[in-house]
Amino acid sequence: MDLRLRELEVNDEREALAAHSEFPDWEFLLSYKPEYKWREYVSQTHDLRLGINLPKGRVPATFFIAEVDGEIIGRASIRHELNTFLRNYGGHIGYGVRPQFRRRGYATEILHKSLTYIRSIGVGEVLITCLDENVGSSAVIERCGGQLENIVDFEGKPLRRYWIRKH
Ligand SMILES: CC(C)(COP(=O)(O)OP(=O)(O)OC[C@H]1O[C@@H](n2cnc3c(N)ncnc32)[C@H](O)[C@@H]1OP(=O)(O)O)[C@@H](O)C(=O)NCCC(=O)NCCS
Repeated sequence: MDLRLRELEVNDEREALAAHSEFPDWEFLLSYKPEYKWREYVSQTHDLRLGINLPKGRVPATFFIAEVDGEIIGRASIRHELNTFLRNYGGHIGYGVRPQFRRRGYATEILHKSLTYIRSIGVGEVLITCLDENVGSSAVIERCGGQLENIVDFEGKPLRRYWIRKH
């Protein structure tokens, strides 16, 4: 599969904002607000990767666009370490695929490539979480080797916590 992960770029503005508007209750562009200047938003995501100007409560994280044949099909957010919130609920990696590109194995490939990346920066044991009701996401995690640790309450909903260990 010809899917690649790459950093967000200034000339992604139109397509990335279109993708962002396609998710009613999930953030494609993390912490994005319409009043932001695009160029500054892109540079903030690059800073976050390097741990520069980290907002309070955030850890260094890499934001990757997933691209197939030059089109944005999804994204991944890869946290380089866990804080208390991430250890309990958020996990190391979050991902999403645009509605028109679903059920083609893209999320599985995004997670697979994200695991290669996070291991390359020294994280061996990777926590991934998803709501129990998100059957698509739990299937993706299990396909990538996720072992269920437990199911916890997150804002009144059951949340599945999985570990993926290097073997
Ligand atoms: C969850 C999500 C990432 C899945 O993306 P995707 O590219 O469709 O996933 P894949 O094609 O890799 O799916 C792999 C398998 O998961 C299962 N699956 C995926 N979506 C499913 C769904 N809606 N219902 C049931 N099973 C599903 C299937 O078994 C699928 O394999 P198959 O198509 O061969 O049957 C996507 O629906 C999405 O972006 N949702 C909104 C954001 C989100 O929930 N992100 C995850 C946060 S934890």
